[in-house]
Amino acid sequence: MFELENFDLKLNTNVIGRNFIYADEIDSTNSFLLDKKNKNLVDGTVVFAEKQNKGRGRKDRVWYSIKDQNLYFSILLTDKNYFGENINLINLASSLAVAQAIENLFQLNTNLKWPNDVLIKGKKISGILLEASSQGSKIERLIIGIGINVNQTVFQGNFNIPPTSIKLEAKENIERERLLAEVLNIFEELLEKVRVEPGLILRDWKSRCRMIGEKIEVTDDNLTKYGIFDDIDENGFLLLKTKDKKIEKIHFGDVGTQ
Ligand code: BTN
Repeated sequence: MFELENFDLKLNTNVIGRNFIYADEIDSTNSFLLDKKNKNLVDGTVVFAEKQNKGRGRKDRVWYSIKDQNLYFSILLTDKNYFGENINLINLASSLAVAQAIENLFQLNTNLKWPNDVLIKGKKISGILLEASSQGSKIERLIIGIGINVNQTVFQGNFNIPPTSIKLEAKENIERERLLAEVLNIFEELLEKVRVEPGLILRDWKSRCRMIGEKIEVTDDNLTKYGIFDDIDENGFLLLKTKDKKIEKIHFGDVGTQ
C-alpha cells in the first residue's frame, strides 16, 4: 500500500503533485484527467492509482497493471505558459525526469528511446503517454501519463520491447513513495528549464540516447521509414537522414534499429 504521509514528506515541489488524488483502482489515470467532469482540477494535479483496469499505452496499446507494485500516475498541466511550440520538449523532459530519478536513487544506468521510453540494458522500465485536450486549435490541458515498472518481477503478455523493473535491476525492494516524489521533484525543475533553458533538456536527453548516429526504422501506422538517426531538433523532433541524404523531420512513430 502506498503511504501518502511518507510520499508527502519527500515531495519538495511548489505546484506538481500538491493536489494529489489517490485511487485504489481506476480505469486509467490519463482518462480520469481527460474526463470533462474533472476539467476544473488545478494545474499540477497528480492522479495516482494502485491499479488501472484500462491502462493505455502509445498507439492504442494496453498498459497492464499489477496491483500495489508499480507506479501508474498522470500529471495535469493547465498553465498556458507551458503550451508554446516546445510542447514536445515536455515529452522529453518527462522521460528525462524518470531516468534521472532512477539514476539518483538506485545508481542504475538508464537510456532513452525516442520519443519517451526509459530503458535499462535495452529493456523497458517506463513508458509515457502524453495527451492533450484542446479547444479549437488551442491546447487547454496537457496530461502526462507515466507508468514505471517498480517491484514487479514477472511479466506476462506480448511486448514490443522486453520489460524489466527497478527491483529486477537493482536487486532490492523499492520504496515507491520515494521514487514518485523524486520523479515529481525533478520534473518540476525540468519543466522550468523547458521554458528558460530548453537547450539543457536537449543536451541531457541526447546524452542518454544511444541511437543517434545508428541505422533505424521509424514506423507510424503502417508506414515504415528507414535511415540514420541524425539528431533531435530544437523542438525535440527526430531528424532522419534518408538514403538520398535528405533530412526528414519525424513527429510521431516507433523507433527500432535496422
Ligand atoms: C507507452 O509506453 O506506450 C506509454 C505507457 C503509458 C502508461 C501510463 S500508466 C499511467 C497513465 N495512464 C494510462 O492509461 N497510461 C499512462
